Amino acid sequence: MKVILNGACGRMGRVVQRVFREKLPDADLIPVDPMAKDGEAYTALADYDGPADCIVDFSHHSLTPALTACAAARKLPLVIATTGQTAEELAAIREAAETVPVLLASNFSLGIVVLTALARQAAKAFPEADIEIVEAHHNRKLDVPSGTALTLAKAVQSVRPGSRLVIGRHENGKRDPADIGVHSLRMGNVVGVHEIHICTDTQTLTLRHEAHDRALFAEGALTAARWLVTKEPGLYGMEQVLEDLVR
Ligand SMILES: NC(=O)c1ccc[n+]([C@@H]2O[C@H](COP(=O)([O-])OP(=O)(O)OC[C@H]3O[C@@H](n4cnc5c(N)ncnc54)[C@H](O)[C@@H]3O)[C@@H](O)[C@H]2O)c1
Repeated sequence: MKVILNGACGRMGRVVQRVFREKLPDADLIPVDPMAKDGEAYTALADYDGPADCIVDFSHHSLTPALTACAAARKLPLVIATTGQTAEELAAIREAAETVPVLLASNFSLGIVVLTALARQAAKAFPEADIEIVEAHHNRKLDVPSGTALTLAKAVQSVRPGSRLVIGRHENGKRDPADIGVHSLRMGNVVGVHEIHICTDTQTLTLRHEAHDRALFAEGALTAARWLVTKEPGLYGMEQVLEDLVR
């Protein structure tokens, strides 16, 4: 498999390069990064026009228009790991998915896919419970809250009509039962922790996932890439990859 890696020189990009060398020694990786130095990577997607089987993106959401345009024009399946897209950028992703298969996931850990399903189930089982989501990440992370925390919050919201997301709580006053709170900690070198607290007057259920190593996301993205290259155009998520893996 020949994979174009966008964002190849960032923290995640370098981990993907290492995992790729270790796990897929016979495959080719074409690194692209606008901040690349000393020729270690192409500095734009448009600079590489050789053959490829797919694009994997761990860069910055502002590159979405260039990324989706390149994937659609070259008919290349696209795995998007980057988080924090605006509404316009998400629209560009949906448009590209009409032409090529696109997999968008805010977290490539299979543990988080399972956690999301459990969060939805718990929110349904305890319709009166207060639900608060807490995430922690390293102090260099740019987007707040994490894309994964938003995915979890939206999963809860999908089974709680009338609820509303409260990103951080900064005002005095009683908690509104319709709130789904999302809180962010930024500290040290934390790879990623997500907790969902489901709290009634008589019990608290806490669901927790902790990533120990960034290789987890790289491995998930490469599993996703191998899966995606066999698919028809459309917008996919990690739930579908997991469904096929456990079938
Ligand atoms: N889906 C997942 O499982 C998962 C896991 C970890 C990180 N991420 C996401 O992947 C992305 C990259 O994470 P990272 O920790 O490697 O970040 P990073 O800042 O270390 O690397 C980002 C790379 O993108 C490039 N880039 C291009 N345009 C940029 C711009 N306008 N601003 C900043 N960087 C730009 C930089 O050169 C850099 O090499 C983030 O969106 C992060 O949230 C996703």
